[in-house]
Amino acid sequence: MFLKNSWYVAAWDHEVAEKELKPVKLLGEEIVLYRTRNGVVAALEDACPHRKLPLSMGRIKGDDIECGYHGLTFDCTGTCTRVPGAEKIPHVARVRSYPVHERYGLLWVWMGDPALADISKIFAVEHWGDPAWGVNRGESMTLECNYLYMTDNLLDPSHVAWVHQSSFGNAAAEEAPLETTVGTDGVTVWRWMIDVEPAPFYAPFLQFAGKCDRKQHYEVRYPSNAIIKAIFVPANTGGEGKPLHEDVFLMDSYNFMTPVDENHTKYYWFQMRNFAPDDAEVSQRFATSVRGAFDEDRVVLNAVHKGMANKRTPNLDLKIDVGPLRFRRNLAKMIEAENPLQVAAE
Ligand SMILES: [Fe+2]
Repeated sequence: MFLKNSWYVAAWDHEVAEKELKPVKLLGEEIVLYRTRNGVVAALEDACPHRKLPLSMGRIKGDDIECGYHGLTFDCTGTCTRVPGAEKIPHVARVRSYPVHERYGLLWVWMGDPALADISKIFAVEHWGDPAWGVNRGESMTLECNYLYMTDNLLDPSHVAWVHQSSFGNAAAEEAPLETTVGTDGVTVWRWMIDVEPAPFYAPFLQFAGKCDRKQHYEVRYPSNAIIKAIFVPANTGGEGKPLHEDVFLMDSYNFMTPVDENHTKYYWFQMRNFAPDDAEVSQRFATSVRGAFDEDRVVLNAVHKGMANKRTPNLDLKIDVGPLRFRRNLAKMIEAENPLQVAAE
């Protein structure tokens, strides 16, 4: 089950080229993306109402799509504009169209009631466009797991100690206690680790020598978008509520998870940092390290999905699961509120 009334990332903007039909799958629904002549992206149900051939196998004609089977043609609102050989267009000859918005280099599609689509609800990226901040534009990957294993993972700062030993992890990450904050739009799990060794991924970029205080802020907002903040300051200058030292290292990692279906998740990301804004080499190094670390997550989460789907003995929950479980419970309530009859029937 998925939350429908929400924006989900459907693709990077460059993945939808001019004059090309791009099939994507979100929340179990097949959708075709394309650009009209003025460059605006349209999203239509990817199935001709005649014999359900994917429209993505057809052709772009002006601002419309022509089905590759019998030439039925649809405009970017999903209205049928032509049925070759028919005297009039049957009123059922239409496909669903989805609201789309381009932001942060990503194409966001609204999967619920179009009347509720509000672009102010797209995930806010705090320092976007700030010339003092650098961006390493991310990539995407497909995970063979339910999207909620990803939201679990991104509400779990402790996993870095075992999954990412060569990058994000350090010894302190094994034992330092976690705090959980439940808000109206999501859940945050966080902690400060005081006077610890910097983790290998970040160490070369710190503006100070020696040990550090490190904050991990893992925040996932409904239904499945996350900001992971990494904060490093010189040892014994950090802590909750204290002003950040002038040499602070800040990295905001944005993570957008789109359920493809119950068993697959498309994962998009980029990172922003408070230094070296125009340094392409730094961006490249971050991009490569992040990709490596996220591949480590992918291997674990794909196997977790399989393990949980085929379990023959009960699994257990630990104290570290408080945040992820709260998130799952609240999201389930939101999904139920969208469609109470359907949930009750299952
Ligand atoms: Fe991870």
